[in-house]
Amino acid sequence: MSNERVNQKKRAPSPRGHFLLGEMEAFRTDALALTRSLQKEFGDVARFRLGPFSVFQLSHPDGIKRVLQDNNKNYDKNTPNYKTLRPNLGNGLLTAEGESWASQRRIAQPAFHRERVASFATPMTGAAQAAVERWNGLTADVPIDMAREMQRITMRIASDTLFSLDIGDDAQAFAEAVDETLKWAIVQLTSLLPLPPFVPTSMNRRFNRASKIISGIVSKIVAQRRKDPTDRGDLLSMLMLTRDAETGATMNDALLHDEVVTLLGAGYETSANALTWAYFLLAQHPDVWEMLQDELRTVLGGRLPTFADLPKLTFTKMVIDETMRLYPPVWLITRGAVAEDEIGGYTIPKRSILFANAYLAHRHPEFWNNPDAFDPTRFEPSRAAAIAKYAYFPFGGGPRMCIGNQFAIMETQLVLATLAQAYRAEIAPGFVTTPEAIITLRPKHGIQMILKPVKRNARLAASA
Ligand code: HEM
Repeated sequence: MSNERVNQKKRAPSPRGHFLLGEMEAFRTDALALTRSLQKEFGDVARFRLGPFSVFQLSHPDGIKRVLQDNNKNYDKNTPNYKTLRPNLGNGLLTAEGESWASQRRIAQPAFHRERVASFATPMTGAAQAAVERWNGLTADVPIDMAREMQRITMRIASDTLFSLDIGDDAQAFAEAVDETLKWAIVQLTSLLPLPPFVPTSMNRRFNRASKIISGIVSKIVAQRRKDPTDRGDLLSMLMLTRDAETGATMNDALLHDEVVTLLGAGYETSANALTWAYFLLAQHPDVWEMLQDELRTVLGGRLPTFADLPKLTFTKMVIDETMRLYPPVWLITRGAVAEDEIGGYTIPKRSILFANAYLAHRHPEFWNNPDAFDPTRFEPSRAAAIAKYAYFPFGGGPRMCIGNQFAIMETQLVLATLAQAYRAEIAPGFVTTPEAIITLRPKHGIQMILKPVKRNARLAASA
């Protein structure tokens, strides 16, 4: 490289940070507060250290677009965040790279086309209705953990649509195991010298036990299905039977296993978080709740929503969109720089870690008026068209964009439309909701809420 080129290099501004840890302690205690203050003090390309890693935080749509879309070939998933997911997700779609990823994406893509996903509307409303039935049997005014409730719903949807079965008791074990692996990931990401899973610390032992539970549940399902591979129209059938149009290959058992863990894991936690935050925000905005009720009364009048209703449930969708703006379930998309690049006038050295920060972009004052306010009308179709592409990207972007985005939008719309016709919820008195942002953005201790039957649909709640 010429001297002239070297001299042109411009280092992004950064805090001094702890000599060994950098900003790790602040990241561990409150990652959202840290990222907000970095943006405020250092702008849209802020450099900081997390232990040995040099991180660039991007909060402007232009920089994010460069990483996820325009120059995406220069950015891989060789990052600490993805490293914590690999022991469980293996070579599945979310964590694979290169030709292995491209082949899997070609095989899996048709299974996620809107027409195919349409057949999942019934299991989606069915799972929500089952929750309403359960809620009908609860003692009035006793708080429930809404995060857990939403997880139960989305887990049932994921298992039903993936394998056409209710994984019953396994669902609880699976969700608890995923929670354990996320806790482990947080410790890994916030330790200076994270100990690999084979070192027998108590945390690692719990993690290994959880991984075994996840793998055991999935292996059982895949083995059963291999014995009877008839097409059941679910995602697993599609993944087992589809051939890669370019290579003619189908998925082998190991890959199928990783894919199922990935789809089950990626599919239920994120959607559950979106629905939990929606109920949290609606509880604090009675005016928005009433607008939602007006739409549900007009379009559905107390019956369950169907796939055909989706285009008419526009306000329901706007509530989901606005919820994911304020609380993007995947708040941070991480990448590693393969070669040097330049973003916003600053040099990005090879092997830096990039944080495409959805939480910050979604509240960027240049792109959003009154950014912290909950206002679903921002997503009225006429206004939504004007939103800059990477000022709102809850499903990522470029070639690695979420394969389940249509699935997730439809799922959250149908579940919210079903639940909100039967119950509203209030945050339990004295309960403080604490967002936890490490891998996903979730309420750290769940959200304790008190259910209140919707009066005019008391019939739906009671007869459910
Ligand atoms: C509200 C719900 C959801 C949100 C917010 C969400 C968000 C995301 C984001 C941001 C990515 C990109 C990650 C990156 O570029 O590093 C992603 C990827 C992915 N998501 Fe989702 N997701 C959701 C639901 C789902 C569902 C329901 C499924 C499956 C049924 C799913 C499966 C996947 C897979 C397989 C990938 C990896 C795609 C690839 O790299 O080719 N997601 N998701």
